[in-house]
Amino acid sequence: MKIHGQQYRSIWLADDGRSVQIIDQTRLPHDFSIMTLRDAQSAARAIREMWVRGAPLIGATAAYGMALGVYNDPSDQAIAGYQELLLMARPTAVNLRWALERVVGRIMPLPKEQRAAAAYAEAAVICDEDVAINSAIGNHGLELIKGIRRNKSGKEPVRILTHCNAGWLATVDWGTALAPIYKAHDAGIHVQVWVDETRPRNQGATLTAWELGAHGVPFDLVVDNAGGHLMQHGAVDLCLVGTDRTTKRGDVCNKIGTYLKALAAQDNHVPFYVALPSPTIDWQIDDGLQEIPIEERGPEEVTHIQGKASDGQLLKVQISPDNTTARNPAFDVTPATLVTGLITERGICEASEDGLVALFPEHTHPAV
Ligand code: MRU
Repeated sequence: MKIHGQQYRSIWLADDGRSVQIIDQTRLPHDFSIMTLRDAQSAARAIREMWVRGAPLIGATAAYGMALGVYNDPSDQAIAGYQELLLMARPTAVNLRWALERVVGRIMPLPKEQRAAAAYAEAAVICDEDVAINSAIGNHGLELIKGIRRNKSGKEPVRILTHCNAGWLATVDWGTALAPIYKAHDAGIHVQVWVDETRPRNQGATLTAWELGAHGVPFDLVVDNAGGHLMQHGAVDLCLVGTDRTTKRGDVCNKIGTYLKALAAQDNHVPFYVALPSPTIDWQIDDGLQEIPIEERGPEEVTHIQGKASDGQLLKVQISPDNTTARNPAFDVTPATLVTGLITERGICEASEDGLVALFPEHTHPAV
């Protein structure tokens, strides 16, 4: 994606060919600040403190985090330590585990002196694949949006509601849920996006609004509680969200509040689609409610809010009474029954094991 006319990915190898650079997403949209990661510890910190976030970018950062670590110490023991450290950084997005297993699986059979180069190479491939996957999701989602456009009368825009940030900042490029929107906009289809602010960290208000604005896609920011009302009044043609982990039967874990949107969508007969890169599928589990670890983040994300003061400084202010206790579950699970379809890089399928396995037959398990 372009920022001020310059092409960016959300993560890249620095000019020294060794350290890794990212955009500090905790400071957006008010401050575009690039951070340099030089070891596995700083990569783990970047994930934990959400300088980078979004399931695919968490995976890509973990892959490069492993490469940074292996460059310093390629021993078996050190690799096991880096894997543990990075895996603990955030629990819900399965891309983290997937990326680490992939890099470790690639480098462990190699002699120690070859491991660092192989880890960097694998991390780069993971990043390139992510871009291709999201572009393909964009193409499939574009067809869906074209279908909605055909069924709409007049010059009304196709109105799409999205939650959190599943744009290019959440991935290496393109985004998942936003990729079809970018492609539709670029194809000249009039789309208009309802952007949920997405409390407590406001990834919608800060990141999605910034991305869409930079690309010239028309949008309106709405408070999280507005979606149901908009759907009741026929103002939403499509809900389109991302996911941090989807089970093999199609239960979708995504940013807290997604489930409520899916409930409102079902009650109002609004199609509810989830953009799903295959590394986000957890083929090891069925039941999202019981089996997905839901990250519980600190209460200060609920009791405080960050924004730009009139002097341009980033400021965090308290919004609740002193000593208020708060709970902060960061994700929820939308059961497959509420999901109209999954948009993957191989096409769109029903949110079910049959639907997913039809697109990814390599995950069929022979009957025992
Ligand atoms: O807590 P975050 O900002 O990492 O949560 C991100 C989301 O929930 C996204 O919707 C999800 O990762 C899909 S991103 C392509």
